[in-house]
Amino acid sequence: MNHIKVFSYNAAELRIVWEDTSESQLQAVWLRDHCQMPASRNPDNGQRLLNITDIPENIAIAEVSLEDRRLIVQFTPDGYCTEFDLDWLYDNCYNLNPHSDDRSEVGKILWSGKSFEQGVPRYSYTTFYEQPKSRLAALQVVKDYGFVLLDAVPNKAGQLLKVIEQFGFVRETNYGPYFEVQTKIDPSNLAYTNLGLGCHLDNPYRDPVPGIQLLHCLESSTEGGESILQDGFMAAKILRDEDSDHFAVLSQNWVNFRFRDSSADLQARVPLIEVNDLDEVIKVRFNNRSIDTIKLPPSIMQQFYAAYRHYAEILEREDLQIVFKLEPGELILFDNTRILHARKAYSAGGTRHLQGAYSDLDGLYSSLRKLEANS
Ligand code: OGA
Ligand code: ZN
Repeated sequence: MNHIKVFSYNAAELRIVWEDTSESQLQAVWLRDHCQMPASRNPDNGQRLLNITDIPENIAIAEVSLEDRRLIVQFTPDGYCTEFDLDWLYDNCYNLNPHSDDRSEVGKILWSGKSFEQGVPRYSYTTFYEQPKSRLAALQVVKDYGFVLLDAVPNKAGQLLKVIEQFGFVRETNYGPYFEVQTKIDPSNLAYTNLGLGCHLDNPYRDPVPGIQLLHCLESSTEGGESILQDGFMAAKILRDEDSDHFAVLSQNWVNFRFRDSSADLQARVPLIEVNDLDEVIKVRFNNRSIDTIKLPPSIMQQFYAAYRHYAEILEREDLQIVFKLEPGELILFDNTRILHARKAYSAGGTRHLQGAYSDLDGLYSSLRKLEANS
């Protein structure tokens, strides 16, 4: 609980010096817009009733007074009066609590191959399913590292949907609620062959891209077929460190991805490296199979190809990758806006059968916050 040491104000802003010596600078329009009273917020659900255009353009502070732990602010020209709880003001003050983006590279633990010499983060399906504490830990690992492995997942078709139910919602697509990754005759997608797949993120041709992917191994008796994962945020950071112009070219020039089969023609125009307003990486995309015709102004094409090649070369660096063989009962769950996956080619003899499904990051982050709040 923080107390006010001293406050002062003029028409434009209120300044508070708190007892811990931190200082808040709060502008009149922000204070009016963040009124917490029932006239401005529904008291039951906290949703805002006020629209920015309801606030006079020339809103200004007329008077401020302190009563116990409430700061009372009166405005001109409309005479509106509101009061703020001091704890709320301290916790929400915008210069003391700058905006944070939970998708940004800044809050993540970037990794390379040697980060997991002791093994990848792994939880048992049963504890993930039954124990909120273990689910919280596993989802926290997804937030920090971008992936987690679950083992002892029951070897049943569609079981990965039960995993999704524990943190969010299935993102059904034209491949269905889940899809079979196994060698097929006349495959619509190279994933359904025994060919190796270079590192990629799935479905960059969807808008929005599915934020979470799951792959559950049901059978694996072939030679080869190892899985590879790598941290796309680390690769983007290396690109920026090695050549900031290349990084800028890939974040500023958007390209098209496309998937077509007999029933779908999906297209999205998106950047390979997506940044937020602070130029922090929030999403990467890379998929050699589904990148569409590259159409950029002639003056940019050469720079684009140099940057694209540089980025692809970084993604091929083996020291950034982890390689392991998914065994039956193992499931990998990963952030499909950050973690690239690949698989090595596998033999024609034996059987390899995975099931894949998608979900979205917002649901996972929402569950994580609720589990944190209840822990
Ligand atoms: C996929 C895929 C990898 C594998 O289906 O998206 O990349 O290990 N599969 O088969
Ligand atoms: Zn894939």
